[in-house]
Amino acid sequence: MRHVITGAELSPDEVRALLHRAAELKREPLSSDALAGRSVALIFQAPSTRTRTSFETGVFELGGHPLVLRADELQLSRGESLRDTARVLSRHVAAIGIRTVSDEEVIELARYADVPVINMLTAGHHPCQALADLLTLREAFGELDGLTLAYVGDGNNVARSLALVGALVGVRLRVAAPAGYQLEQLAGVALTDDPRAAAYGADAVYTDVWVSMGDDPASAGERRRALGPYRLDDALLDAAAPHAIALHCLPAHPGDEITEEVLYGDRQRIWDQAENRRHAQKALLELLAG
Ligand code: CP
Repeated sequence: MRHVITGAELSPDEVRALLHRAAELKREPLSSDALAGRSVALIFQAPSTRTRTSFETGVFELGGHPLVLRADELQLSRGESLRDTARVLSRHVAAIGIRTVSDEEVIELARYADVPVINMLTAGHHPCQALADLLTLREAFGELDGLTLAYVGDGNNVARSLALVGALVGVRLRVAAPAGYQLEQLAGVALTDDPRAAAYGADAVYTDVWVSMGDDPASAGERRRALGPYRLDDALLDAAAPHAIALHCLPAHPGDEITEEVLYGDRQRIWDQAENRRHAQKALLELLAG
């Protein structure tokens, strides 16, 4: 049974093949019936725009039925265990996607599921986002091996997934974050508190929201103060390579972690990233459940 909880479960060859397949599926979205006659459960214990729409439309395009299950609609909300939920869903669906805050919940669900489980975002990881981001970099630059990606801002789940999944295909990650918001040291990742040093000569500069879903809303003011110098603006992008692109996993808060000029400007590939969620996840579903 293959699960994707952090993304590190995939081999380098699998990630390369998956991105190649995602590009094919982007060119011909209705060319696969890998999920014909089957359903995929998509459990959302937290809000989503991109993940829900991209998975739901992606499963449909693969010929399957997306079964979107909100937390308050499941007996999970009344105390049924993840173990029993996994056993029941496995009798009906070809795969289970889950979005929740706790990484342990995804691990627990996967432990008892007889079908592949895909992490659709936890506090610790966002592997599906990282796959779409790599597809976007591949479209922009062709080769991934040797690219330098600068991530500025909160060293969160997205940064961690970029580090883990990017390393599989040779993307060198630099993370610039202030003390208290920095990613832990992971193999091959350069950590700094200087956003310009991270961006210098990079092929892409990436940012994410300063207050994520799992963060205490009461910490928003403190986070804005600490992360203010890490805003992705034109000046920071100018420090990167002349061909550099701007990336953001969205939702964005223009004026906080990114300026409107960058978010809607000529150098961004942010809206391609949002679209690429569907193509990358379709290739992942083919790999795991096709
Ligand atoms: N990037 C991302 O996961 O977006 P949603 O929270 O809207 O799904």
